[in-house]
Amino acid sequence: MVLAQSLSDEKDKRMLTVALCKGKLIEPTLELFAKAGYGAVRPAADSRRLLIPCPEIGMTFLIVRPTDVPTYVEHGAADLGVVGKDVLLEQDSDVYEPLDLGFGACRIAVAAFRGQGARDRLSSKIRVATKYPKITERYFNQRGVPVEIIKLYGSIELAPIVGLADRIVDLVETGNTLKAHGLVEIECIARSTARLIVNRASLKLKHQAIAELLKNLRLACTSPERPARGSAKPLRAAGRKEKRART
Ligand code: PRP
Repeated sequence: MVLAQSLSDEKDKRMLTVALCKGKLIEPTLELFAKAGYGAVRPAADSRRLLIPCPEIGMTFLIVRPTDVPTYVEHGAADLGVVGKDVLLEQDSDVYEPLDLGFGACRIAVAAFRGQGARDRLSSKIRVATKYPKITERYFNQRGVPVEIIKLYGSIELAPIVGLADRIVDLVETGNTLKAHGLVEIECIARSTARLIVNRASLKLKHQAIAELLKNLRLACTSPERPARGSAKPLRAAGRKEKRART
């Protein structure tokens, strides 16, 4: 009985729960996992399933919203997660962040209609629309610029056009969305790529399994041509085409 319990504990230590972002990051994440040898079973990205056990590779995947990934990992509902640095900067979660996965590169930038940048130097409050209220507040506070932050959940570029805000703080990759709305980037606040995050307790309790995964992912990041250990079937379509791979 005791032996059975201890064997089951050992097995638990080898099983990892990984929180993956719904949306743009999921496809490059699964490609990287496959490259690292964890491609034997791959969740179909177009499926409605939110919990995908993959015992063949010792993992269970949770499919969650990008902004929820740090919460799952911080509270230990997932041992690991993959999420954009933009989300981590905004949430300041208590998680270990051992690996920059390299994909999903973009920047968090301030943008406005051309010629409006100088208004930061005036004393009147400027209205800034953003999905990143904390990053925005920190940025303008550090410059002593009084702001009113307007929290939005998407389509941020619309805000200056309809008079909701004087400027925006948003993700920029190609700059095409800004350009299409007559906006220009004033300043880059931070750069973002996808990161692997780890629950602090899991790092100790499941050290061996996590260390091995980290080693394999690190190798896959640096050796793009490295063949996968498992079968790397082509991934099914993840909905709309990748514009960029982040959050
Ligand atoms: C993001 C971001 C910008 C756009 C930037 O929006 O908020 O709108 O992509 O990309 P670009 O520089 O390559 O044009 P997303 O597609 O995530 O949708 P959202 O506006 O609903 O957040």
